[in-house]
Amino acid sequence: MSDTTTRLLDGGEGVLNNVFSPYADYFIDMNSQRNSFIATQPVGIYESQIKHYICQEYFNHEQKGLWEKIPQFIAPIQGLENIGDFITVDYQGRVPMIVSKVDNERCAVFENVCPHRGARIESHTEGCKKAFVCPYHSWSFSHQGHLIAARWREAFPEIPEQYCSLHSIRAQQRFSMLWQIPNDPKPDFSLDNWFAAIEDQMSAIGFEQHQLLNSRERMVQANWKLLIENFIEYYHVQSLHQKSLAPTLNGQLHSLDSFAQHGRILTPLKNLAKVRQQTPHKIRREMVATYLLFPNIIIGVQPYHVFVSFYHPVSANQTCSKTFNFIHNGDEKIKEVCQLDVEYLAEALEEDYEAIEQVQKNLEISSAQSLLYGEAESLISQLHHNLAAILHPNGREKNRHE
Ligand code: FES
Ligand SMILES: [Fe+2]
Repeated sequence: MSDTTTRLLDGGEGVLNNVFSPYADYFIDMNSQRNSFIATQPVGIYESQIKHYICQEYFNHEQKGLWEKIPQFIAPIQGLENIGDFITVDYQGRVPMIVSKVDNERCAVFENVCPHRGARIESHTEGCKKAFVCPYHSWSFSHQGHLIAARWREAFPEIPEQYCSLHSIRAQQRFSMLWQIPNDPKPDFSLDNWFAAIEDQMSAIGFEQHQLLNSRERMVQANWKLLIENFIEYYHVQSLHQKSLAPTLNGQLHSLDSFAQHGRILTPLKNLAKVRQQTPHKIRREMVATYLLFPNIIIGVQPYHVFVSFYHPVSANQTCSKTFNFIHNGDEKIKEVCQLDVEYLAEALEEDYEAIEQVQKNLEISSAQSLLYGEAESLISQLHHNLAAILHPNGREKNRHE
């Protein structure tokens, strides 16, 4: 490898190089044979029950049987560099949170709720503070969550311990993101085990070498599973995105792979063969990887940016989507190109959201009972099997909910 190549790979062009490189040749080979082979084992067809997308009782069952048991995404933390830096995190239906950089190594997560009488403590979305002061009666708390002072202190003959600190939320850091740990986690659901099968690939993305460009939130009027299903199949791209994404792609050539409960779609872009031949260190700019971090995070490695989309279920027919767009620190000199890459994808994303909202409406009034998935949609059947393994570990609730 020449010095120049080594230098370039230190920047955004090195992201996931070890994953993309072997597939580049495979895709070029397939394309030259005009083959759109999908690299999955034959799995047959799969059907899912429509009531799982529209029934509030099933949604409540998922709350208890799924979300309360597994690690849950909180937020990326690239922006929290100095002690006292903080962000606030709000997802409808989940307790409001403050993420605070408490020492050089660690961010802590607190409920953004005053222990005195329940007011919201911090109203800014980000900043740097040594103390959070509650706007209601001015109690103040350190960036480590401890009560500093209660105004008119002599009016309280005592302040029991549970009122002397912000309620902390159990969280751990992985891939430069914070994850909420369940109160009573099963060993399988420890963060180490949860991500074991995909750890190497997430690490190869190098989130710690990325900076947050922007984030976008959109409430989608659809069940969270319809959204995730959309992003883990490539089958719709040539149809739904025929004017937006399809012209930059290599037909419907792609590869589906799973890593324990997580999934991945790799797709070659149009100029892959040319780039592979002329500037092989740049193949990362001509391939796209889309990951499912089971069950509700989609990570996209796009040519000039990486995004993390979090789909937070609000009700049976409502999901809060939040997309964080990152660029590699090594790509800072081409930031404008990266910004265009983000905007380009945002338009296609809106096509997805509109189509899915239409699907949700139809499912709610249709007389159909189930939906059908083929082998190009095999990651979806795996998603459902993996969900069922957690929701119905003994198959006992089969009759009630399936
Ligand atoms: S509710 Fe915060 S100081 Fe009273
Ligand atoms: Fe799409």
